[in-house]
Amino acid sequence: MKIDVIAGDITRIKAGAVIVGFFEGMESLDGDMAAIDKALGRAISGLISRGEVKGKPGEINVIHSLGKINADRVAIMGLGKKGELTLDKIRGAIAETCRHLSKKRVDNIATVAHGAGVNKITLAGSAQAVTEGVLLGTYSFRKYITKKEDEYSEIKQLTVVGRKKADIQPLEKGCIKGEILAEAANIARDMVNEPSNYMTPGDMAEIAKKIAQDNNLELTILEKREMQKLGMGALLGVAQGSCQPPKFIVLNYRGRKSEEIDLALVGKGITFDSGGISIKPSNKMDEMKSDMAGGAAVMSAISAIASLKPGINVTAIVPAVENLPGGSALKPGDILTAMTGKTIEIISTDAEGRLILADALGYANKLKVKRIVDVATLTGACVVALGHITTGVFGNNQELVDKIVAAGTEAGELMWQMPMYEEYKEQNKSDIADIKNAGSKDAGAITAAQFLAEFVGDTPWVHLDIAGTNFDDKEHKYKVKGATGVPVRTLVNLALSISSQR
Ligand code: BES
Ligand code: MN
Ligand code: ZN
Repeated sequence: MKIDVIAGDITRIKAGAVIVGFFEGMESLDGDMAAIDKALGRAISGLISRGEVKGKPGEINVIHSLGKINADRVAIMGLGKKGELTLDKIRGAIAETCRHLSKKRVDNIATVAHGAGVNKITLAGSAQAVTEGVLLGTYSFRKYITKKEDEYSEIKQLTVVGRKKADIQPLEKGCIKGEILAEAANIARDMVNEPSNYMTPGDMAEIAKKIAQDNNLELTILEKREMQKLGMGALLGVAQGSCQPPKFIVLNYRGRKSEEIDLALVGKGITFDSGGISIKPSNKMDEMKSDMAGGAAVMSAISAIASLKPGINVTAIVPAVENLPGGSALKPGDILTAMTGKTIEIISTDAEGRLILADALGYANKLKVKRIVDVATLTGACVVALGHITTGVFGNNQELVDKIVAAGTEAGELMWQMPMYEEYKEQNKSDIADIKNAGSKDAGAITAAQFLAEFVGDTPWVHLDIAGTNFDDKEHKYKVKGATGVPVRTLVNLALSISSQR
């Protein structure tokens, strides 16, 4: 999609549709809306006075301009009550409006920085939200559909129109940031939507190579031999049931001159989770192609971070492994030794995420990083607790937890902190090893997080359980069916906030 920012009269813009926003309860039209209304012979005020346009959130009305202005259509999107407007509501409204228009084969849209000046929303902030809304909301994954649908077209051009010349710079800044963030989220979505036969650990390593080349990042890919040398027994235990060789991916972004790593992002990269010998029921097992979403998120996030160039050092670490019940597979009752030396009794081979993360976190910790954030589709229990709406946040450092929750709020990616009380640790105690990989069903998301905590030492660490938020079966606001790209934008915001506080 091409994005342009211009200053001028919105009634003059040539486009398939001009999108204007309308607040619930507004009596008179102002600015751009008033100009368009006038040019259209008061068509919009007519719809308002007849109660057809109310400005409710989610409301979309499209009217044809019949040559009275340069754009073919005017789309009036409801923004809800003015006092309640947020950046996320702008993202959502723009996304739904653009999806509606793209189904009508409109591929060229023009709009303004909605809500700038309202509730502390800036021009740049609004332009960013608008860009994110368009790109995230019109995302689709159709590469394997051979029949080209005629009722759908991609939006090829977005023009954001400012009132005056001085608006151009902040609008451009916002559009560029929005484009980087949304494109990164869409790359993660692509990786997650890709079926596991085309997204093996080897395929993930190839994508890492491309990301490294495009962004000038240092890349290390550890092969099985090297993982054996490092003693990554937990990761290798999971890998041994599949013919796909595991890959351990490390990407480095250097934003300042120092060996110190300010932030390590660790992402679970199970390219398919059959459960292993503790095999999963076949219902919805297909969705387990998305079990590498944490890995996809940290890879995409570091590429966006490299584009935005904050002055910090970031490392992304992805253990990429397939969990299958092959002839040499890990079995319940087996004991594995992790890189840190801890022994783990296997109760369920389906609790594989925490095993590969044990070694990835152990590896990160050895790099002497200042803070670690891991992202994983870790537990069904987290989906039960928080649904597809909210990501579970767990950690050993309140300051870092607060930073992430704030970064998530800014992105519109909802997060909620879960308790890490000592009492829960009881469930991870093994009679014959240092720890076991599964306890009872109770508080499963918490006990999984506490298992991970055993491998990070004293390093400030936060774990994000995205089992529910990474994948959805409904279209809603700027989410579409399938992968959501959560929490890519949160991770990038976090890196920016860490760099601004240095
Ligand atoms: N990848 C799954 C968790 C998951 C479930 C993600 C549903 C997305 C949707 C994970 O590896 C898993 O199987 N966890 C088990 C752990 C249990 C065996 C202790 C679970 O949640 O059932
Ligand atoms: Mn599993
Ligand atoms: Zn899994």
